Amino acid sequence: MPDIDGYNEQLAHASNNQVCTGGFHVKGADHYDWGMKARLSSIFNPKSGNTVMLAFDHGYIMGPTTGLERLDLAVSPLYDDIDVFMATRGALRSSISPATGKAVALRCSAGSSVLAEDMSKEQIAVSIKDAVRMNAACLAVQAFIGSPDEIQSIGNICDAVDAGMDYGIPVLGVVAVGKQMERTTKYFQLATRMLAEFGAQIVKTYHCEDFESVVNTCPVPLVMAGGKKLPEQQALTMTHSAMKQGARGVDMGRNIFQAEDPVAMAKAVSAIVHGGMDDKRAYEFYLDTKKR
Ligand code: R5P
Repeated sequence: MPDIDGYNEQLAHASNNQVCTGGFHVKGADHYDWGMKARLSSIFNPKSGNTVMLAFDHGYIMGPTTGLERLDLAVSPLYDDIDVFMATRGALRSSISPATGKAVALRCSAGSSVLAEDMSKEQIAVSIKDAVRMNAACLAVQAFIGSPDEIQSIGNICDAVDAGMDYGIPVLGVVAVGKQMERTTKYFQLATRMLAEFGAQIVKTYHCEDFESVVNTCPVPLVMAGGKKLPEQQALTMTHSAMKQGARGVDMGRNIFQAEDPVAMAKAVSAIVHGGMDDKRAYEFYLDTKKR
């Protein structure tokens, strides 16, 4: 027989807790199924609602990128300060321990290398069976909206959403910016909204002017892409600005693993994303952690 007072207290607490009352902590996800919500909760921390994804999928297009020459050595020191591995199945299987408990955003599109004239040609490169085998928390699929090959990109996103829906696995739609592609607010609004409308449950996009309007017109959570290496202070300011404008986290690679001190940088990014630290303090925190 439950202690009725204790039970009522629990109920009162539950009614104040949006995670338990149906107001799910991930934007646009209220009506998804249990398994999909569980996977989203392994990506977006239910307390902060946010995520730090470490992108180290660069090899699929660039080969051994600076800072990632030895995947095992580069990534293992960062385990404690990130939530999600964004990587290829080859990198994960060969170099990363499956015992970390981290969620996996599995890179599922591929098709060209940095040597190609037109890098926008991609196809789905992982079967849903293998994604399930890899325990993927989401399928990361890149889309080149506005490129001559956009129909293939759109098809890839739609196919991945269809396959993911069969197993409750969300899709991370990745907005690509190629050499000839736009980087305007209007472009990012268009591309992010399109990917969400095709059914991507999370969208990765770049920071831009009036990022808030990109967040506001996209019905699913946006995670900010890191992009090329910036000075650490600037990368932290960009992170803080995106979070203030409604991003639900970052999917960042080079600005973490190419930082002078990658561990200190991961800690500082996490302090902004999960702890709400401002960029000035986060940079001091970075310098302080780096010294130790
Ligand atoms: C981006 O679209 C690809 O997934 C990249 O390989 C990766 O995410 C880039 O990360 P960053 O630009 O932060 O180094």
